[in-house]
Amino acid sequence: MKFFIDTANLDQIREAQDLGVLDGVTTNPSLMAKEGITGRNNILKHYVDICNIVDGDVSAEVIATDLKGMIKEGEELAELHEQIVVKIPMIKEGIKAIKYFSDHGIRTNCTLVFSAGQALLAAKAGATYVSPFIGRLDDISTDGLNLISEIRLIYDNYGFDTQILAASIRHTMHVLECAKIGSDVMTGPLSSIEGLLKHPLTDMGLAKFLEDYKKGN
Ligand code: E4P
Repeated sequence: MKFFIDTANLDQIREAQDLGVLDGVTTNPSLMAKEGITGRNNILKHYVDICNIVDGDVSAEVIATDLKGMIKEGEELAELHEQIVVKIPMIKEGIKAIKYFSDHGIRTNCTLVFSAGQALLAAKAGATYVSPFIGRLDDISTDGLNLISEIRLIYDNYGFDTQILAASIRHTMHVLECAKIGSDVMTGPLSSIEGLLKHPLTDMGLAKFLEDYKKGN
């Protein structure tokens, strides 16, 4: 399973990259705003800065919601850097844009996916990635992980190449369950990746090994 970090914070991206297990980054307009990145030029520069830190795909989201606007913006984003994947919302015009980009060799990430039907449509249009938001479904008492299972089944039934990018990950159990189901990618905060490290028996065991080493030296 690929590990993406879901942030526009350069320090956190560097930290995840330094860990050696990072495969990419996802951003969205809210994450950009959270870092105080505003204005078209600053946003475009920030995407390039991210690409220069990480070895892997970087999702950059379009703001336009009409086909012509999404194509113009998406082409501009794709030209920024070879690692850019154009993030397109799951709306009718978005499906048309995904089809256009797929036909023109530009990779896409279909975002704001909340149902298996939407994921089927995104795959039919040729999306590179589909992003089901599991945390936001859990937030409204709907099983987000079940959606990942449904999409896995459908994509396997027909051999779709579209990669399932489990998004809106909130914690390590989401990561583990997505790995068990067979999600291709997960994107979450740094804490959801670093949380995988933790086990008290590891810490206790290491402390004992070091203590016993000292006794013998
Ligand atoms: C995915 O690409 C989104 O940026 C993200 O995972 C949304 O997560 P949130 O529900 O924590 O905002």
